[in-house]
Amino acid sequence: MSSPLKIGLIGSRGQLGQELVRRFSEPDLAPGVDLRTLDRPLFDVTDRAALSELSGAGFDVVINTSAYNAVDAAETAVRECFELNAFAPLFLARACREGGTALLHVSTDYVMSGGIHEEEQIPYPEEAPTRPLSVYGLSKAAGERLVLEAWERSWIVRTCGLYGGSGSGQKGGNFVTTMVRLAREGKPLRVVSDQRVGPTAARDLARGIARLVTEPLPFGLWHLTNGGNVSWYEFARTIFDLTGLSPDLTPVPLSVYRPVAPRSPFSVLSNEKAHRAGIVLPSVESALEDFLRRAGLIPS
Ligand SMILES: NC(=O)c1ccc[n+]([C@@H]2O[C@H](COP(=O)([O-])OP(=O)(O)OC[C@H]3O[C@@H](n4cnc5c(N)ncnc54)[C@H](OP(=O)(O)O)[C@@H]3O)[C@@H](O)[C@H]2O)c1
Repeated sequence: MSSPLKIGLIGSRGQLGQELVRRFSEPDLAPGVDLRTLDRPLFDVTDRAALSELSGAGFDVVINTSAYNAVDAAETAVRECFELNAFAPLFLARACREGGTALLHVSTDYVMSGGIHEEEQIPYPEEAPTRPLSVYGLSKAAGERLVLEAWERSWIVRTCGLYGGSGSGQKGGNFVTTMVRLAREGKPLRVVSDQRVGPTAARDLARGIARLVTEPLPFGLWHLTNGGNVSWYEFARTIFDLTGLSPDLTPVPLSVYRPVAPRSPFSVLSNEKAHRAGIVLPSVESALEDFLRRAGLIPS
């Protein structure tokens, strides 16, 4: 019998982190997993001394879910954003290289925009050139590149519109929980109708990541999102159809909504590579329904 995989998880209290903890504690994973969580204040990924200790910790794999992900605030908090999304991943990758530890680092659809993919609405494959529009996107693209250059035993997993548990601490929720809360408060809602995305349940992403690291699948870039794509307006509509809420909901174009950080109207990631490897996440709609059911927002 093979010995359990020793995994260090950075950011275990985040949306994705919580789901990874759950997945790695399920008994059906082979090999088994010996999971250690790495969280503040004991472990801060921006602390170089903590990273050098990590290289001697004997992990087989380190998973980094930590990020500066307040996309609009990042436009002015540039230094903080790059520290967490670009420099910390670089030093983490170097520490992993020193310890012979594989690294899984999480990235985002915000690294993509433009070209034929945007013009013709063709999902971006992993090898499409990155073209970030925002500080957040730039910092994540830099982080990806620095990790891949520093340590060849790295997986970079790009995902989109994550939602899980009660949401991201930094963002004060996620799109789904925020829509439900605002609708219950009776607030009129204006939601962008011309930005297409592949919102992804953290639970499904965690299952995909567990496959990548336990099988293990080849290092490099991977896209993992729920299947299909929607505009944020369509996604909100589906949330309200499923929950039976009926807020005053108005579609607005990006040009009117004008978020602080620029967004691509089409940042849908292609999951073809993952599909070829046998990893198929559920569709956007069924993942949403499953999330709402588990959250007790629709009857089971
Ligand atoms: N959220 C999205 O819509 C989205 C979309 C695409 C990609 N992503 C990417 O997916 C990944 C996971 O996102 P998420 O939504 O799960 O994030 P999240 O809920 O905001 O969680 C981030 C986690 O990182 C931890 N963290 C922050 N700074 C840290 C530091 N200096 N040292 C150690 N830990 C630190 C936080 O710790 P505390 O518990 O102490 O706060 C938290 O547990 C990120 O890489 C993000 O860029 C997210």
